[in-house]
Amino acid sequence: MQTPRPRTKVRYLTWYALFYLPRRMAAAAVTRRADVYGICQRGPSLLAQELRAVNTYRPTPMCQEMTAQGSDNCRLWHNYTTIYAKLLDGWRGRALTIAELGLGTNNPALVSSMGSTGRPGASLRGWRALFPKARIFGADIDRDILFEEERIKTFYCDQLDPAAIAALWAQPELADGADLIIEDGLHTFEANIAFMNGSLGALRPHGIYVIEDIATETLPQWRAVLAGTYAPKFPAHDFALLALPNPANRLDNNMLVVRRLD
Ligand SMILES: C[S@@+](CC[C@H](N)C(=O)[O-])C[C@H]1O[C@@H](n2cnc3c(N)ncnc32)[C@H](O)[C@@H]1O
Repeated sequence: MQTPRPRTKVRYLTWYALFYLPRRMAAAAVTRRADVYGICQRGPSLLAQELRAVNTYRPTPMCQEMTAQGSDNCRLWHNYTTIYAKLLDGWRGRALTIAELGLGTNNPALVSSMGSTGRPGASLRGWRALFPKARIFGADIDRDILFEEERIKTFYCDQLDPAAIAALWAQPELADGADLIIEDGLHTFEANIAFMNGSLGALRPHGIYVIEDIATETLPQWRAVLAGTYAPKFPAHDFALLALPNPANRLDNNMLVVRRLD
């Protein structure tokens, strides 16, 4: 199993001392709750109610694991693990299937790159450490960063191509769907919609689908499409659109969470 590189480790230790510990202490006095829009055909969105209660200022142990692996989903720019910790509470011992689109290319020439110091597969390794009985699948448009390791397998997928998305879910290991699907790929509204259209059907009962890094300027468009299209089309799903307060990032610290009810 691969361990974090020295540079990742130094960055993690700096983050732990200067960000994680001070925030954990300050969170006793500071509370920042997400602005959550919820919609569910069966009644009030219980998912939205649950997520409104989370203090998104208080980093969690899940945040530590993801940052140690080199993922950016819980540093100064994003604080999604506060929400993941609530959503996935009690899931640790389960034999889950987890699938994430977006490995984190380190090719600066590609769109949504993590930069040349990025560590492809960071979040996948984070999920593996957090869920010891889970099988983790990843997908990305960058064929150069695909890899296979203990309990992790990755595939090519271009989320703008419906045929490529269908081919991903037709892989034998994914043919029964997934319990947790994370979309952290291209980050445009059209790309989010294309991947969701091809992937929501692959969500298992009681499973969770997440889109990270939704642009703040597209939130009104999202609310419209959730109310007008997705909630009526998926009556057994609960939808919550979250704007996480973060003075360091007003651009895209937003996520969509979908829970399949049965
Ligand atoms: C922000 S990075 C993912 C980071 C990773 N999940 C983590 O937390 O460490 C976004 C990834 O989306 C990929 N990507 C960009 N366009 C894509 C597309 N059309 N289809 C699939 N993946 C794409 C990029 O190659 C990049 O690896």
